[in-house]
Amino acid sequence: MAIPVDINPDPDILEINLEAKITDMEIIEGKITPVWTYGGSLPGPMIRAKVGDRLIIHFSNNLPDSTSIHWHGLRVPNNMDGVPGVTQDPVPAGGEFTYDFVLRDAGTYWYHPHINSAAQVGWGMYGALVVEDPSDPEEFGDELVLVFSDMSLDEEGQFLPPDTGGAFSDLFGREGGVILVNGKVKPSLKVRKGKQQRWRVINAARTRYYTIRHNRQPFIRLGGDNGLAERSETLDQIKLVPSERTDFVFTPQDEPGTVDWLKWYPTERGYGSTFNRFSEEMMEIVTVNEPGVMPESIPTELRHIEQIDVAGARELLIDLTIVFPDDNTVEMGINGIPYWNSKPLEARIGETHVWTVRNDTDFNHPFHLHGYFFQVLDEERIPEWKDSVDIPVHTELKLAVNFDERPGTWMYHCHILDHAEVGMMGTLRVSP
Ligand code: C2O
Ligand code: CU
Repeated sequence: MAIPVDINPDPDILEINLEAKITDMEIIEGKITPVWTYGGSLPGPMIRAKVGDRLIIHFSNNLPDSTSIHWHGLRVPNNMDGVPGVTQDPVPAGGEFTYDFVLRDAGTYWYHPHINSAAQVGWGMYGALVVEDPSDPEEFGDELVLVFSDMSLDEEGQFLPPDTGGAFSDLFGREGGVILVNGKVKPSLKVRKGKQQRWRVINAARTRYYTIRHNRQPFIRLGGDNGLAERSETLDQIKLVPSERTDFVFTPQDEPGTVDWLKWYPTERGYGSTFNRFSEEMMEIVTVNEPGVMPESIPTELRHIEQIDVAGARELLIDLTIVFPDDNTVEMGINGIPYWNSKPLEARIGETHVWTVRNDTDFNHPFHLHGYFFQVLDEERIPEWKDSVDIPVHTELKLAVNFDERPGTWMYHCHILDHAEVGMMGTLRVSP
């Protein structure tokens, strides 16, 4: 991935220029696709700094349309959140905006536009942002950042219209037929038997869910959205819903000289999502012809996660809803109200809320809250901080969140971006 040039000599400040522009790329062999990019690369430049650093981004928009940058998952001041019409004006074609904030929390994050986002993200507007914690154990191994996405292209490499398929596709969400890993179709990775790697994986697709497996080789999950979880856990497969991140140790166990695949598997996410669908190869894994090494043992206890005290918390119901105003239209909303008719939810600084996010629809919805981390109230789960979580069909989850600081108006929405576009989005006003 492209690495941005730091124009600031201060070691605690990362200051970069970032230009949004259309760049021709060969995504499918022999065809040219006019990709919408940050900085002319796909994904955009990988922003990497350490916890506590200040990040300054001089953003310029050379796209033919307005855009913005939302820093997904980061606890930024409200006016840096990149939501046109809510926290800032859109950055028009030819316009500029400077984002400037401190990276307060280690973890794996990403950035993307928050305007016409189903289309713009689908055309390539996303990049990784890693906030390192210098005290992470060395045993985790060398790091690899993987951005998963997909694109809807025709045979000539041109984008299909962002509203392809009409209301049915609004309902299901648009999965691009071309799966990409760091902007490439089926890239190849060299590994050495036993030599562990820490993979930070980001799902930047507008709709697609990823369930990934690598034969019999388990993943040791360390955490996800907002840094390490309380404990590590060994999993045969990992599921990533749109906008979610996962952080795990991959231990190559194939014999030297073997060629194998990391594969995508269909995820059950409602009507028709797994019917007649099969696994797909995502990334080739080549085990080099060198003697193997002994894998390190990965600690189980990783971090103490202070439980949010929910005694006396305010309870709110967030009911994810779908209505059909007529035969050709789908409208989604929260508590039956689409975004354009909604009123903000209210919270006060210092308040703790428990949100029951209910999904009685026939499709899963990955629920995302801006500005704050939440905890899922579910004893089966290893405690961790999150900003995005799947709400499966006909289930509900309780999320605890403390609005401790940074007043302002913040978004919450489904991160199947096609669902957000047809109304499954709302605002929350946190007042001092
Ligand atoms: Cu990934 Cu409202 O954002
Ligand atoms: Cu949804």
